[in-house]
Amino acid sequence: MSKVLKIENLRVGIDGKEILKGVDLTIREGEVHALMGPNGSGKSTLSYALAGHPNYEVLGGSATLDGQDLLAMEPDDRAKAGLFLAFQYPTSIPGVTVANFLGHAVTNVRRPDRKEGEELISMREFRKEMRQEMDELGMDPDFAPATSTRVAARRRAAGRSLSRQAAPPSRSRRPGPPAACRSER
Ligand SMILES: Nc1ncnc2c1ncn2[C@@H]1O[C@H](COP(=O)(O)OP(=O)(O)OP(=O)(O)O)[C@@H](O)[C@H]1O
Ligand SMILES: [Mg+2]
Repeated sequence: MSKVLKIENLRVGIDGKEILKGVDLTIREGEVHALMGPNGSGKSTLSYALAGHPNYEVLGGSATLDGQDLLAMEPDDRAKAGLFLAFQYPTSIPGVTVANFLGHAVTNVRRPDRKEGEELISMREFRKEMRQEMDELGMDPDFAPATSTRVAARRRAAGRSLSRQAAPPSRSRRPGPPAACRSER
């Protein structure tokens, strides 16, 4: 069965003010839609309401994903059903690549009983899958940096760690053996 997101006469408000006044939109599997409109016209409001953000109150209408009532589902169940809300302005966190973040998200959706700290799906397999999806969507592969970039990042991190070890010990610390004499575990 092909997948379909169907939005009918959706009305959404924030703080008692109606922002979306009857949105109709049908997106079928394989289609890419870009919502365009002036600032403040309600593009983010639509996305947040579909994702289940608690500040956005659905005042009327419906949204279904493959016939399931999306608006009746908890946000994590919407994610498990296939909805993902990407960041418009992602915060850069050193050491966390987009692929790593997505790998976590996909693992948690595919293995809903996974506990924090438990093994993720194979990143090698995930990267392969991600590239296929990006290819299908016509996305520039440069958005998923190749291994060489990750290796360079690891080398930078290793360099930082070495320079910390080489730094003179602070006066408040008790003297210990020089870094080079400590056993590596
Ligand atoms: N938390 C909020 N409380 C009250 N009003 C809000 C809130 N967030 C957004 N609005 C209002 O809702 C309307 C729609 O905003 P929204 O952010 O959905 O627009 P947008 O189309 O995504 O704009 P942009 O192009 O700037 O991203 C605007 O009038 C905005 O002022
Ligand atoms: Mg917006």
